[in-house]
Amino acid sequence: MNTLKRGEASPYQLTTELDAADEIRSQAQYLQRAEGLVLELKSRLGRVPSACVVTFGCQMNARDSEKISGVLEQAGFEMTEREEADLVVYNTCTVRDNANQRVYGRLGALHAMKKKNPEKMIALCGCMVQEPSVIEKIKESYRFVNLIFGTHNIYKFPELLCRMLESSEMTVDVWNKTDAVVETLPVVRKYPFKSGVNIMFGCDNFCTYCIVPYVRGRERSRASAEILEEIRRLSADGVTEIMLLGQNVNSYGNGIPGELSFPQLLQEAEKIGGIRRIRFMTSHPKDLSDELIEVMARSEKICRHLHLPVQSGSTEILRRMNRKYTREDYLALVSRLRSAIPDLSLTTDIIVGFPGETDADIDDTVSLVREVHYDNAFTFIYSPRTGTPAASFEKTMTDEEIGVGFQRVLEAVQDEAKKNVARFAGTTGEVLVEDRNEKDPSLVTGRLSNNVLVHFPGDASMIGSYRMVKLKENRGFYYIGELV
Ligand code: SAH
Ligand code: SF4
Ligand code: F3S
Repeated sequence: MNTLKRGEASPYQLTTELDAADEIRSQAQYLQRAEGLVLELKSRLGRVPSACVVTFGCQMNARDSEKISGVLEQAGFEMTEREEADLVVYNTCTVRDNANQRVYGRLGALHAMKKKNPEKMIALCGCMVQEPSVIEKIKESYRFVNLIFGTHNIYKFPELLCRMLESSEMTVDVWNKTDAVVETLPVVRKYPFKSGVNIMFGCDNFCTYCIVPYVRGRERSRASAEILEEIRRLSADGVTEIMLLGQNVNSYGNGIPGELSFPQLLQEAEKIGGIRRIRFMTSHPKDLSDELIEVMARSEKICRHLHLPVQSGSTEILRRMNRKYTREDYLALVSRLRSAIPDLSLTTDIIVGFPGETDADIDDTVSLVREVHYDNAFTFIYSPRTGTPAASFEKTMTDEEIGVGFQRVLEAVQDEAKKNVARFAGTTGEVLVEDRNEKDPSLVTGRLSNNVLVHFPGDASMIGSYRMVKLKENRGFYYIGELV
């Protein structure tokens, strides 16, 4: 096992399909070996060892957690959501600094548990550990961590798991890139009836505030034949709702001669029997084509929801963010979408406090929120990320001023969201039932095609089914409904 420094070429770089097949075989062997090691652990503990995987980041991070859980379950661990487990895996995110701080805080609590259970193992993976400074900090102050691996070598997790189970040393295996797209690990899906499907990895957009291109590497699309095969398998396994995942799904297939475009991929996915709903995430406004709008408008399966991150309503701030569209471009796109798909729900991401931003820029964001009538928006305070261009831009507003601006945007977002969600009151729609209601066990919870949450009286036998539900009571962001 090598511990690679950033910048070194990986000895495992897979350049041909033959290499990939070898690698898949080799990981299958490691998985068998891990099963034996888990049995040994079981006899030492006198019980089945448990494992807990915690997701800190986005949908792609969550999908990786499902792969990690799949390997652990197959190796013989009993999966739990409790961090008292014998093995805890933190699948981290580093998009904003508070994501990192949460991990450090919780590692402290894990350390206390480890003192009581010396067999306890702790693994860190995901985007945060792609940063060299984080690895240094863990090595220095969190020596009790057993395994650290990055975003590029998850497909080697069976091998890394063996290494951790066999060694008392900290294992660190973080690569700074890979060209390989190996998607063969067993997977434990959080929901039996819905699943994410990676269609591409990485990002080439380099928005000036964003660390994702550095921690996830260059944009790579999976072959459409493989993606469609995975969807067919999922469908045969009972999945009816899929979410196609990528940082910028609209540039799917770019640069691969003869590959399908994203709208073409959607059309092929739609033909797969058993799939009733198709969602996708995330769309960059600069690449959203008229072809995609047409395909969505005609489709019976593509959900009536589009997450279209705007980041700012000010053209000057958008330019400094390297978003490659203006406020006017974005509004024109929204109006094309609205006229082609009148029942579409739109959601977005917004950053407040970007360097150079003024109150007038924030006014522009507030007015854009009012003009677009978003159904919801995630609003973030800008967080400088080391190594990104914006980290060296001059800060112009104080934290207090940013806080006031953030509140103004948040109020506009919440007010619009309430008004927009209210437009569905009294209508009847098809809900995919996802869960029992956490607070009230007499209710179940699900989503409409447009992603609006609905709670209604029901029982666990309904989970995974589609039900027609009348939206009776609007509770702000969600509905209480009844079966019709
Ligand atoms: N690829 C997606 C976004 C992925 S990150 C896209 O381009 O739309 C999710 C969101 O986190 C971003 O849309 C942005 O709003 C926010 N974000 C990213 N970097 C940030 C930073 N440095 N500070 C605050 N928010 C950030
Ligand atoms: Fe980050 Fe921009 Fe890429 Fe989204 S498109 S992941 S915000 S660099
Ligand atoms: Fe976070 Fe990595 Fe996703 S930084 S947002 S988990 S791609």
